[in-house]
Amino acid sequence: MTQQQRKDEHIYWAEKFYHEKENSLEGIRFIHQGLPKIDVEGVDIQTHLFDKVQAAPFYINAMTGGTTKAKDINQQLAWVAKRANIALALGSASIVTREEETLSSFLIAKEELQEGTFIGNIGLEYEPSMIEDVANRLEVDAMQVHINVAQELFMPEGNRTFSSWKKHLSMLSTLPFPVIIKEVGFGMSGETFTELIENNIQYVDLSGRGGTNFAQIEIARSNHRTENLATWGQTTAESLLEAQPFLNDLQIFASGGIQSPLDVVKCMALGAQSVGVAGYFLHFLLEHGKEKTLDEVLRWQEEIRLLYTLLNCKNHKELQYTNLFLSDHLQHWYNTRQIGQENFACRNKK
Ligand SMILES: Cc1cc2nc3c(=O)[nH]c(=O)nc-3n(C[C@H](O)[C@H](O)[C@H](O)COP(=O)(O)O)c2cc1C
Repeated sequence: MTQQQRKDEHIYWAEKFYHEKENSLEGIRFIHQGLPKIDVEGVDIQTHLFDKVQAAPFYINAMTGGTTKAKDINQQLAWVAKRANIALALGSASIVTREEETLSSFLIAKEELQEGTFIGNIGLEYEPSMIEDVANRLEVDAMQVHINVAQELFMPEGNRTFSSWKKHLSMLSTLPFPVIIKEVGFGMSGETFTELIENNIQYVDLSGRGGTNFAQIEIARSNHRTENLATWGQTTAESLLEAQPFLNDLQIFASGGIQSPLDVVKCMALGAQSVGVAGYFLHFLLEHGKEKTLDEVLRWQEEIRLLYTLLNCKNHKELQYTNLFLSDHLQHWYNTRQIGQENFACRNKK
């Protein structure tokens, strides 16, 4: 199996399992209030990412590159991202280090995006000097460095050596561009956030369980792994709770199972800087094409504005004080993990 075949298989299986999701964000509810004091036109949902202004607090997250099909997808995603003025992250560029001719499948997105926010992606198994080389060749605004230990271990041909990660991690903060440490759908813990801060990491994409599931995908590809591993990892909601004590030290990007503007707003209310969407927009693009995907992204932007109004919040900061009701499971998680004292249901009474 070549790396190129694997890339296309990931698209195939992600699409095949698209409808099998567990929306962990259902465990977070807003409390409706009937007396708003603001106007829709006074709501500001713009976001700043890496010194560039984005129209809305969500971006298209890392998916693909390296094959003819991936090139076509990247070009279409970039076409959408540019017109909607949102950031685009591309799939892992590790393939470029081995197969030079695959570079164009990534650069095509840069050409399409022009001045738009462009985020590269590669694994922590790579030496920081190599990560820098790839980032320079792609001319990115920031680089996601993925930590995908569960995926690798569930993948028959996956990596089995992780002892170099600690050293690589300790060197990433010296790179001359922003580095985002990113999961791939297994979520993060307070312990991981602490270690990232100790290594001077500022940006994290906690990519939790709940959407595209690489345990399920790799189990399906290998055809012989045990099914019970398909629920490995923290959901996006659990990961966001884990992140609460670290919101002053880390800029948190939330992703994993984001299916709607309401999901975006829930993540923002729990302190995210922005929210990543992968599988949903890939599925939409493959089903409906780039024009309708752009319409959908613009619809999300408008609906987020309406939801902020409904919550009586003019901006992201105010949203972080809005009241939230957590499911028994999430409240139990928060208490059992001794994360903090926050009473999410009465935040604006502070
Ligand atoms: C087809 C596909 C390929 C992916 N490839 C990568 C990758 O190369 N690097 C990475 O960090 N994440 C990769 N991801 C993971 C996503 O960026 C995201 O973390 C995960 O899919 C959860 O988000 P979702 O539920 O919105 O899909 C991929 C996702 C999909 C659907």
